[in-house]
Amino acid sequence: MTNDPLVVFTPSGKRGHFPVGTPILTAARQLGVDLDSVCGGRGICSKCQITPSYGEFPKHGVTVRDGALSEWNAVEQRYDDKRGLKTGRRLGCQATVQGDVVIDVPPESQVHRQVVRKAATARAIVMDPATRLYFVVVEEPDMHSPTGDLERLERALRQQWDIQSVSADLSLLSKLQPTLRKGKWEVTVALHKGHNDDVSRIVEIWPGLHEGGLYGLAIDLGSTTIAAHLTDLETGEVKASSGLMNPQIRFGEDLMSRVSYAMMNPGGDKEMTKAVREAINDLATAIADEAGIDAGLIVETVFVCNPVMHHLLLGLDPVELGQAPFALATSESMSLAAREMDLTTINARAQVYILPCIAGHVGADCAAVALSEEPGKSKDLVLIVDVGTNAEILLGNTTRVLACSSPTGPAFEGAQISSGQRAAPGAIERIEIDPVTKEPRFRVIGSDKWSDEEGFDADIATTGITGICGSGIIEAVAEMRMAGLLDESGLIGSAEKTGTQRCIPEGRTHAYLIHDSSADGGPRITVTQGDIRAIQLAKSALYAGARLLMDEMNVDKVDRVVLAGAFGAHISTKHAMVLGMIPDAPLDKVSSAGNAAGTGARIALCNVASRAEIERVVREITKVETAIEPKFQEHFVAANAIPHKTDPFPELAKVVTLPAPSFNTGGDDETSGRRRRRRA
Ligand code: FES
Repeated sequence: MTNDPLVVFTPSGKRGHFPVGTPILTAARQLGVDLDSVCGGRGICSKCQITPSYGEFPKHGVTVRDGALSEWNAVEQRYDDKRGLKTGRRLGCQATVQGDVVIDVPPESQVHRQVVRKAATARAIVMDPATRLYFVVVEEPDMHSPTGDLERLERALRQQWDIQSVSADLSLLSKLQPTLRKGKWEVTVALHKGHNDDVSRIVEIWPGLHEGGLYGLAIDLGSTTIAAHLTDLETGEVKASSGLMNPQIRFGEDLMSRVSYAMMNPGGDKEMTKAVREAINDLATAIADEAGIDAGLIVETVFVCNPVMHHLLLGLDPVELGQAPFALATSESMSLAAREMDLTTINARAQVYILPCIAGHVGADCAAVALSEEPGKSKDLVLIVDVGTNAEILLGNTTRVLACSSPTGPAFEGAQISSGQRAAPGAIERIEIDPVTKEPRFRVIGSDKWSDEEGFDADIATTGITGICGSGIIEAVAEMRMAGLLDESGLIGSAEKTGTQRCIPEGRTHAYLIHDSSADGGPRITVTQGDIRAIQLAKSALYAGARLLMDEMNVDKVDRVVLAGAFGAHISTKHAMVLGMIPDAPLDKVSSAGNAAGTGARIALCNVASRAEIERVVREITKVETAIEPKFQEHFVAANAIPHKTDPFPELAKVVTLPAPSFNTGGDDETSGRRRRRRA
């Protein structure tokens, strides 16, 4: 039995006996306690802060007396004078063990600190990035034992950090010598070690202790928009989020038209590659500016994207993705230098990781959703739908996970809709239609009031009412169906059939008038028969994809539905179900996950082990190809009705009573006017 003092670390509970005089940082390392350090115990980085506790700790079986740690020393005093230490904090590399002690490691001192995600289904991201900072003191050169500066830096990393081998490219080598001398042989290096690497790569070097931070970009490269999150690689904090339109839109609105552009125009793929890379460079500069950091501190970028975007980003001709059997150039993940992709506005030696693709139509964005939502760990059967121009669909539980994608087109995002617009101030995002009067009330982005509430007009005075965004059009169509303005086939009734003058003739069909400010030079916002058809096509594609996966799984219903996607969070689950976008499920089992693909990108950015995990998960996912599956068409046609021609929606029926299925089957104006729906 040792007489050495006992050191107990919280929150880990790890404990051990250590000789008097052992620094707390050393004790933590020997026990495998997660205590950070960049300077290697030199008392300059302050990453190793700890809080000792004094008194009786029956739970741990120790009494901690005054003097359990060494006296506050000059290094700590200097740090406190310069930067300030919180009361009660000590530097773990300076304070040494003198008696039994209980040491708390605060979250900000933990290397693998957890970053809690905001979404309801949040799981924490454990910080374990591929690129980290190391401060080292390098031996000065000696004429009598000649070695290169890089070799002495390598030796210092081996001795001080136990890092066995490193590599440095020519551009790094050219700044190595001046930096070492400027730092008086003390430097900080950023080392990148990917999950498949044996050797750490020196990405950057700074004289002395680098305190400017280290950043990464998680980029969700969509066909329509490019969204980026600038993330602090030490804390996991998102410093700024920004997005822009994918400039490839000028070559074609959807994926297949871009593939056609590449097919029809020699060099077209190169043009599109150049356009998207330039946009990413601009986005990186803009987001760094917004966060007030130097873009050169961005040392890593993770991309998630669909297969066509993936190929165009990498400079690969996407032509094979336009025809069966939809062969990818590679479905594996990619780790490469940012410079290889002409990303020039971030650090010159930044590294890029692109998640693996699942299949020719099911991309790295779907893999990112799988990483974020983890269907393979769900005990109940969960359907995850990432709503976008192309819907990515996952169905699974702990036994099996299936994936497919479905070409929904951009209607859900407000495109191809007569009064459609992007989700921006002035856009109608929520709408209700009174089932009796057939009058609408709505909410507009930029105000939290309904249009019939006091103060609404003042709120929207500057933006006006400009159109309907994706979530708005979904609600509008579902509300029209519930109010009896629309029959099951998707036909808008006439004023006579529906009993409202808001149903106005438009050519040989009808439209429903939501808002008219044309007298003041503003827009006339309607839902036309063409809009309904566009939404029907989109939702049928989505439903048919989900249904195909259910067939493959041999089930008729799912336990849970998760709506993901940039605007998935804004979709009303009830309206999505009235529309028949998603299969029937109890409404309280339908949830939103926000931008799950973006979250998956952020997980892969912050946690290098998750890259190996998603690569394994993707290999195990069963891919279902919608384009060549004959049943897809059958499901698509049946899904055209609102909510569905043949599939029952018993859970929906518990909360919503839909009016007569057709204007032609006995729905005279009066009776349809009197029909009520119960609001959920
Ligand atoms: S390890 Fe850097 S200050 Fe303690």
